[in-house]
Amino acid sequence: MPKPKVFATHGLFDVARQILQKSCDVQYWTKPGRPPREEVLQQVKEKEGLICLLTEKVNEDLLREAPNLRIAANVAVGFDNIDVAACTKRGVAATNTPGVLDETTADFAWTLLMAVARRLSEGEALARSGNWKNWDLDQLVGTDVWGKTLGIVGFGRIGRAVARRASGFQMKVIYTDAVRPAEEVEKELKVEFREMNALLAESDFISVHVPLLPETRGLFDSPKFYRMKPTAFLINTSRGSVVDEAALVAALESGKIAGAGLDVYENEPFIHPGLKRANVVLAPHIASASLETRTKMACIAAENVVALFTGKRPPNVLNPEVLKVS
Ligand code: GLV
Repeated sequence: MPKPKVFATHGLFDVARQILQKSCDVQYWTKPGRPPREEVLQQVKEKEGLICLLTEKVNEDLLREAPNLRIAANVAVGFDNIDVAACTKRGVAATNTPGVLDETTADFAWTLLMAVARRLSEGEALARSGNWKNWDLDQLVGTDVWGKTLGIVGFGRIGRAVARRASGFQMKVIYTDAVRPAEEVEKELKVEFREMNALLAESDFISVHVPLLPETRGLFDSPKFYRMKPTAFLINTSRGSVVDEAALVAALESGKIAGAGLDVYENEPFIHPGLKRANVVLAPHIASASLETRTKMACIAAENVVALFTGKRPPNVLNPEVLKVS
């Protein structure tokens, strides 16, 4: 039996390749950068599996070109690049990589939070510039993190990992989510629930951890920024489109909020020029980018693919209904 043919839009890591090699015949995209769309559409024509990054849209246009496709395995936890309903309609299993990146992403939300509060980007630029003349009492004074109130919007695995880190900073942690966890979880994590508007008014730092869904697109709009404290900071490591970027720029320009730490943007890799300001720390979507975590993500995607082609249920299938009919 020939092995099923798979296209991977990245060279992945050796450990992931080893997982795949036993049961799949994989063609890897190993050139620098992301493959052009035409290349992906060409590659999927004959393939039964696709391993892709969040830069590839798995939509009707792609699925139409891929009549033999049985699985689209995303190397990411967020899967807003995948039209899961379209996959289901065509009997294609869609998978993601939940669980392995929570702590790493939480670390990075904190990296942004501390960097923007303590003006690290400005300080580093000054330190490297050769223009640093002397220590001064009011030089690059930022704002304290310790003892402040952290508001977490979206209290899933990553939001909770962010909350756990706050206790060392003696912070009060409040959260909002459509689904409230059991009381024991709130107690254990020492967090209090707030309705969104109360959280906006009370928080010194707001860290966003919701997935991008129709109901969370543009969640942070002008009225939300108006409700925030003028001394508060917005941290976003979720998806750029959860924030209305033009409204954020307006809020920063008019001093409605104090600053932002951003890893994600509405139209990546484009970054709204109005965000390139001293009180905004910008990162290029790297919250999960530790070697340990990215390796695990690639392995999980590989395991999902191997599971499907060896007659097992892919552990992270998003549309299990397709498995029943195949
Ligand atoms: C990264 O943004 C991911 O969704 O895994």
